[in-house]
Amino acid sequence: MTPTTTESRPRILTGDTPTGRLHLGHWVGSVENRVALQDEYDCYFLVANMHAFTTRADKPDEIRESTLEIVKDWLACGVDPDKATVVLQSEIPAIVELSWYFAMLIPFNRVMRNPTLKTEIDAKGLGDHYSFGFPLYAVGQCADILVFRPELVPVGEDQVAHIEMTREVARRFNQVYCGVDPQTEDADYVNAGGLFPIPRAKVGRVARLPGTDGVNKMSKSLNNAIFLTDTPKQVKKKLGQLYTGRQGMDEPGDTTNSLFQYVRAFIHDEARVRELEDRYAKGDNIGDGHVKAEVAEAISGLLAPMQDRRARYDTPGGEDEIIDVIRAGIAKATPVAEQTLERAKLAMKLDFTPRTISFA
Ligand code: TRP
Repeated sequence: MTPTTTESRPRILTGDTPTGRLHLGHWVGSVENRVALQDEYDCYFLVANMHAFTTRADKPDEIRESTLEIVKDWLACGVDPDKATVVLQSEIPAIVELSWYFAMLIPFNRVMRNPTLKTEIDAKGLGDHYSFGFPLYAVGQCADILVFRPELVPVGEDQVAHIEMTREVARRFNQVYCGVDPQTEDADYVNAGGLFPIPRAKVGRVARLPGTDGVNKMSKSLNNAIFLTDTPKQVKKKLGQLYTGRQGMDEPGDTTNSLFQYVRAFIHDEARVRELEDRYAKGDNIGDGHVKAEVAEAISGLLAPMQDRRARYDTPGGEDEIIDVIRAGIAKATPVAEQTLERAKLAMKLDFTPRTISFA
């Protein structure tokens, strides 16, 4: 089987688990990077809808809804389906097959030590009741990535532990089944005969954006998020709640506080940022309220074009358009994924019959 394109741009794969609407933390942590990279790279953006089942297996309606919602958010953010490929995880059987084989290349205890899994178990209060499939998703994520053989994986800081595991699995596969010497430098694995490049994580401009509680990372479940769909009024109100502990506009302020993390994340005029920092640090007649209003304006300016683009899909025919994008993505992603699987099975001496899955 040959791929349908002769794509020569380097490849990127990244994705999100559909859990609800995207917020500003997603934007500065990862989505902004994706939109910026789609011209230069051959991009695959994956909706990890199977992962949503690891903690919500009894909520298929909700998962379907958030799946469509996240694609809508991506398009609103400027992901262009003519440039990038939207991949619906559950429609790519090669991901599931590779996950099974990869599960044999990584020790069980190594998976359970993955700090991102541990954090999630705590944050979601899963205790020891989580499903077998829950930790398995981390192995599945290795397959999500490697099936597209990307060089780069743009992610938020919280995903770096998963990328590290992916790199271990890629090295191991290349060593065990492609005969690559374990001393090989990461960058040289493919030249040395390996099937999988060792992908690198690329963390967004702002690794961790605090939520409007001023303390925790922005997160839907912590109720401290500004959503990409929030109106200027909502943005203003939510920022108004951001607590800094500062008393008055003449009191010297701490420019490492959460408000100034927003200033640096969303005000793009460097000179203005420096001026605000200067005056705030000195307590030079500048109140939190003023800074908040400026940040709110910058954020609403960022969100306005996203909300305009989104409006097109919030119409009666909008859902069909989203499904069309998903179908087109499946058609583009399948040959790439199938080719990787075919080569992986060949390396594993599993090439008994030609692959018969067909795709139009
Ligand atoms: N685990 C990621 C999240 O919760 C989503 C994800 C699934 C992903 N597969 C991926 C991210 C592959 C990057 C690459 O956000």
